[in-house]
Amino acid sequence: MRRKIVAGNWKMNNDLAQTESLISGIRKKLKKTDVEVMIAPPFTNLFAAFEALRQSPIEVVAQNMHYADNGAYTGEISAEMLKSIGISTVILGHSERRAYFGEDDALLAKKVDSALKNQMTIIFCFGEELADRKSENHFKVVENQLKNALFHLPAEAWKNIILAYEPVWAIGTGETASPEQAQEMHYFIRETIAEKYTDKISDYVSILYGGSVKPNNAEEIFSQPDVDGGLIGGASLVAEDFIAIVKAL
Ligand code: G3H
Repeated sequence: MRRKIVAGNWKMNNDLAQTESLISGIRKKLKKTDVEVMIAPPFTNLFAAFEALRQSPIEVVAQNMHYADNGAYTGEISAEMLKSIGISTVILGHSERRAYFGEDDALLAKKVDSALKNQMTIIFCFGEELADRKSENHFKVVENQLKNALFHLPAEAWKNIILAYEPVWAIGTGETASPEQAQEMHYFIRETIAEKYTDKISDYVSILYGGSVKPNNAEEIFSQPDVDGGLIGGASLVAEDFIAIVKAL
């Protein structure tokens, strides 16, 4: 059975008061759920969010981390630090980290290794840009992102990996991949993993879709056989929209 997950990536949104208010809104509306629900607030609010959700099934996860355990890396946060406040899942490889902070596959491979060394679970994001899709290179781009950052891992590491396919052209644009496009890529990702590893691993790994998932399109995307949930940006900032998406899975 694959994990079914809806994760809200808040990005650089919500101060402390807004964090408390959004969590309270989510808790009030989400009494019980059959799927795993995660939220990823900014670093400054992680601990408050963790404390507020201590008695709840909602998991608090981090949006990023550095690969070193500690040291002279001004402005950075390590896996050890996240673990010390109870956070055991981290998003890595988000396209905004790749685009605005120069994170490439080699750096991401180091972050992946550090997270796993610290017994963390990773939500690994990847996906092609519009030009890649227009030039019909999208499968190759996605395959390379996977290979370069993850395919050095031993088979047993995959129990701690969740994948999030996020076509860059669909992020924050209101333009979603069609359910068929999402399914086609998720199936390709599974095949690629099966070729490198085993059918068992590729059947087991959860693959989330991210990119303009909203209450009105979530159900159709989530109904695809290889889509195991979503990584939600904008719609995760509004409690009722986020809950509606959770309920669509
Ligand atoms: O991490 C989430 C993704 O970047 C999707 O963001 O739902 O605002 O398009 P979005």
